[in-house]
Amino acid sequence: MLEFREFIKHLEDFGELKRIKKEVDVKYEITAVMKKAERENGPALLFENVKGYKGMTVVGNLYTTEGRVAIGVGAKREELDAAPKAVIQEVVRPLFEVAKGKLKEPTVVKTGFVKDVVVTKNPDVLKTVPVIAHCEKDGGSYISAGMVIGRFPETGERVIQLIEMQVKGPNQLAISPVTPMFSEAYKVAENLNQKLEVAVVIGIDPDLMLAACCPAEFAGADKYMLAGALRGEPLKLVKCETVDLEVPANAEFVIEGEMPPHERTDMGPYGDYFKTYYWKEKKPYINVKAITHRENPVYQDILADGRECALLLCIPAEIDVLKSLKETFPYVKEVYIPRTSASHHVIISMKKYTNMDAKAVIYRVLSSSFIAKHCIVVDEDIDVSNWDDVDWAIVSRVQADKDIIVIPELYGSPLDPSIKSGFTTAKMGVDATIDLTVPKERYERSDVPKDVKEKVEKEWSKYFE
Ligand SMILES: Cc1cc2nc3c(=O)[nH]c(=O)nc-3n(C[C@H](O)[C@H](O)[C@H](O)COP(=O)(O)O)c2cc1C
Repeated sequence: MLEFREFIKHLEDFGELKRIKKEVDVKYEITAVMKKAERENGPALLFENVKGYKGMTVVGNLYTTEGRVAIGVGAKREELDAAPKAVIQEVVRPLFEVAKGKLKEPTVVKTGFVKDVVVTKNPDVLKTVPVIAHCEKDGGSYISAGMVIGRFPETGERVIQLIEMQVKGPNQLAISPVTPMFSEAYKVAENLNQKLEVAVVIGIDPDLMLAACCPAEFAGADKYMLAGALRGEPLKLVKCETVDLEVPANAEFVIEGEMPPHERTDMGPYGDYFKTYYWKEKKPYINVKAITHRENPVYQDILADGRECALLLCIPAEIDVLKSLKETFPYVKEVYIPRTSASHHVIISMKKYTNMDAKAVIYRVLSSSFIAKHCIVVDEDIDVSNWDDVDWAIVSRVQADKDIIVIPELYGSPLDPSIKSGFTTAKMGVDATIDLTVPKERYERSDVPKDVKEKVEKEWSKYFE
């Protein structure tokens, strides 16, 4: 198990993080540097000289590659030599498989580093926390790596997820809970005409980050317990100052507050994971009551329109989709969600026994998974994580009049700019598997004889002597 600061240290030791000493502005400049580093497959970045925030640092692009995610959960250097997809399959997924049956209750300790500095009198978010302004047309500064914790009012069941928040004033954050758990908890509170207490935690350990991004159905309701299972020991929590919630004892920042019922404020526009601007809309908000943080805190930022956000969404979602599919379709082999597709393409490989099999999988995935806007099913011989391979299957195995399925009016992402309103989207399935009634030889990959291929592989360097 790595703590947040140990993770940063590990990344640096592995040559995966660079320190930036040049002064940088939280307004757009940090984002511009993070974006360029991402485009150039560069390292994670620790900004040590942040204008206006003496004694604080900002870290970005922590989870921009599969390798860095794996380092977060303790991968060894040699394990990182495998292809990105294999790193996830071999290092990250087994942890989740084992963890599922071993949920661990967190323990509450007296105090922790997150209480080094406690501000309960007139908290002012932008004065205390180096929140970043990301995109040119954004409506303000946004907290993008904030894990939000709340509880269902009547059951006390915890809800935990990453949610984007806009700083609206010294002590107000607009918040946009879209996925069901958190928005449900707030709805229940509103129905009871109660406020919902929340805590926003920034700078969390990697296993907790992965657990927080995990779909609720897979995680079980309490993601603190999933994080405990991933690390093999209970998470240590401390009580908040002004709300009845617990937060990780070693977090970098915690913003405590409450969401008043039936109140809305403008939020947006903001650049989101569809890589477009989500428009200005009325959203709930948090009245901030306290801010606590570590000495010399490290603020984490995630580019909502970057690869890091996609990876954090895709990795747990793949685990969830694969697990639930295998329960009904044991012949499903692999699931991959391309990191470039705003996480809404799902590619599945399977062994087919009848011509109905792939279509059955498509209907199941499109109707049950929020994340699946388009689902492509391929045969076992196709590598789902290799787009060239998938593209080849689509072009050589699909007959559009019978292999394309369109389902109108299913549950999708309201952030999708092509959706006219609400959550309703059309979905598409592509059955890119071989038609079993067509002779198999037609699909044989053209290639040289196997023995010659192996000889050339073995003697490859000799051709260039
Ligand atoms: C960087 C990042 C930002 C996110 N922002 C939001 C958001 O603003 N609103 C939201 O509902 N979900 C957001 N999510 C997605 C949820 O955190 C994620 O879907 C959720 O944790 C899945 O679990 P759930 O089933 O408990 O919702 C974000 C995810 C990431 C990685």
